[in-house]
Amino acid sequence: DRRPIIAIDGPAGAGKSTIARQVAQNLGLLYLDTGAMYRAVTWLVQQAGIALTDEPAILELVSDCEIRFDSSLGGSPSEKVYSGSAGGSGRVTYLEKGIGNPSQIFINNQNVTEAIRSLEVTSQVSAIASLGAVRQKLVEQQRLWGKQGGLVAEGRDIGTHVFPDADLKIFLTASVEERAKRRQRDYFAQSSHASQTLPSTEQLEQAIRQRDYTDSNREIAPLQKSPEAIEIITDNLSIKEVTHKIIALYESTV
Ligand code: C5P
Repeated sequence: DRRPIIAIDGPAGAGKSTIARQVAQNLGLLYLDTGAMYRAVTWLVQQAGIALTDEPAILELVSDCEIRFDSSLGGSPSEKVYSGSAGGSGRVTYLEKGIGNPSQIFINNQNVTEAIRSLEVTSQVSAIASLGAVRQKLVEQQRLWGKQGGLVAEGRDIGTHVFPDADLKIFLTASVEERAKRRQRDYFAQSSHASQTLPSTEQLEQAIRQRDYTDSNREIAPLQKSPEAIEIITDNLSIKEVTHKIIALYESTV
């Protein structure tokens, strides 16, 4: 018997990461941030100096990269869950329970937890995420991690494509204005961005509209509300309220 899977999808800045993490912690499930995986690949492409248009080179890079989540840094307790490896190369990957510290993400053994939140990565991730071979590789890995269930997975195509049989599907959204405001607060809160010029609310709104458009109009697994998904508009709701709402839905449906 597979343990439950909760799928949380929605556009950029709707609060998915925070909410998904809290729901996972409350229900004792693993948290999977699929956006971080697309960001990590984008970072790798940029580091390698590969042009966004050079699809063959990107594919080669992605086909044997290894992504791993780990929350054991900083001494917080964590439970390792063996989950096998994509591509059968014999490498071991782990997905860990995010207790205490926010989980760290590694690509090819490099900790990119902070680097993937940069403006450069954010501005190019949607282009990389629209490539079929990139999606195929990452979705394969996500399904491996979800095989036994017991997961809150967050992204754009979780309920529609990655885990169409998820026990509960949530579509989290908010107005562009509200999402831009939240992103701005995030940037202020991140010390690593202190040296960068912070974008204005208008610039953030523009960037969010652009990313919404690219994510919703790409050919493969675009951002879409699954017909079964329950939509929650988070404009006037606190993190706690949304978390409680999802937990209540989970308890009444699963
Ligand atoms: O959620 P986050 O903003 O970190 O996602 C970054 C980008 O990764 C999204 O804008 C989207 O282009 C891509 N993504 C995706 N499918 C997912 C999760 C993220 O295409 N399941």
